[in-house]
Amino acid sequence: MTHLVTVLGGDGIGPEVTDAAVRVCQAVTTADQITWTNASFGGNTFLEEGSAFPDDTQAACKESSAVLLGAVGLGETLPPGAKRPELGLLELRGALGTFANIRPVKPFPSLFDMSPIRPELLEEVDILFVRELTGGIYFGEKTRTATTASDLCVYTEGEIERIVTMATEFSRDRRKKLTSVDKANVLETSRLWREVTSRTAKAVCPEVELEHLLVDAMAMYLLKRPADFDVIVTENMFGDILTDEASMLCGSLGMLPSASIGEGTGLYEPIHGSAPDIAGQGIANPCGTILSAAMMLRMSLGQPDVANAIEAAVEATIDAKVLTPDLGGKATTKEMTDAIIKRLG
Ligand code: NAD
Ligand code: IPM
Ligand code: MN
Repeated sequence: MTHLVTVLGGDGIGPEVTDAAVRVCQAVTTADQITWTNASFGGNTFLEEGSAFPDDTQAACKESSAVLLGAVGLGETLPPGAKRPELGLLELRGALGTFANIRPVKPFPSLFDMSPIRPELLEEVDILFVRELTGGIYFGEKTRTATTASDLCVYTEGEIERIVTMATEFSRDRRKKLTSVDKANVLETSRLWREVTSRTAKAVCPEVELEHLLVDAMAMYLLKRPADFDVIVTENMFGDILTDEASMLCGSLGMLPSASIGEGTGLYEPIHGSAPDIAGQGIANPCGTILSAAMMLRMSLGQPDVANAIEAAVEATIDAKVLTPDLGGKATTKEMTDAIIKRLG
C-alpha cells in the first residue's frame, strides 16, 4: 500500500529541515511505499494567498496518512492586524484532532558536553512528555480592546481523560512512573486537571505510580534531577514551555522531535520554530525533523525498522562529530544530512 505524506515546509528554516528529512526517508523507502507532496502553509503563504492554512492544504492533510511539518512564523514582521501563521498551526492541529503531542527527551551521550547541565545528571535521562495540544489557553476565547486583553483557559473532563489515558498507557509500557504537572494552587483548570488525572491514571493502570507537581517546581526539578522522570503529562502551555527547557538536556533546541497524534492523521513536527535568525544560511540542525520523520515512520506508516535505522544513523553521525553550529560543529544542514544518509547503509 502506498502512503501519502503531505510535507508542510512552512517558513524560515522550515523548508530547509523538511527537505533534509524527506531526503533521509527517500534513501530508505521506495516511491511505491510513500508518495510525498508539498503543500503551502505558514506566514509566506498568508502573504501570497491571504491565508496561512488554505483549504486545499487542509484537504490534502486530511487525506494523507501523515503530515510532516517544518515550522511557521515570520517573527514580528507581519503587518498589524494580520492573522498570524501560528494561528494557522493551531487550526491545523485542531482540524486533524491531534490532541496529544509526544515529545521524547533522551540525550545522546556524545552531546552531553553541549548541554549546560552537568554530564553526570544526564546519564539516565529518558523522558516522554505528553503535552495536551488542542485545549487550554491556546484555544479559549480571546478578547482585545485598546487597553484590555484576555485569553480564556478552559479544560473539560473529557479532554483531560483522553490525554491522561494515553500518558498512563505510555508509562505502563515504560518505567511505570507518571508525573502530572499543573498549577493547582492557583488555577481552577488545574484543580480539575488534578482530580481527573488521579482517577483516570488509577483506572487505566493502578501499577503506574502517579505524582503531581506544580509547574514552577517542575521547571526547577527538570534541571536538578532530570533522570527521575519517566512520562510527564501536562496541559498545552506548560508542555510548550517545559519542552523547550528540556531541549537543553539534549544540547540544542534543534534536536527534539515530536509526534502530534489523536483522532486521525498524525502530524510530525520538530519542537523548534522557524529560527529567522539563521534562516537561509543552510546551517539549521536537521535532526529534530529527521527524528520526527522517524516517529512518523514508526507511528503512522508501519515501518518501525526503518525508524530504528534512521535513529541509529543520526546517533552514529553525532558520534562521528558531523555537527551543525548549534551543536558546536561546522557542518551545514546538507553536510550533516548527507552524513546521516551515508550511515543508513
Ligand atoms: P525558534 O525555535 O525559532 O528559535 C529559538 C532559537 O533556537 C534561535 O536562536 C534559533 O536559531 C535556534 N534554533 C531553533 N531551531 C534550530 C535548529 N533546527 N537548528 C539550529 N538552531 C535552531 O524560536 P523563536 O525565535 O522564539 O521563534 C521564531 C518564530 O518561530 C516565531 O514566529 C514563533 O512563533 C515561531 N515558532 C514556530 C513553531 C512551530 O512552527 N512549531 C515553534 C516555535 C516557534
Ligand atoms: C510549538 C510552538 C507552537 C506552540 C506555536 C508556534 C503555536 O511553540 O510547536 O511548540 O506553542 O504550540
Ligand atoms: Mn514551542
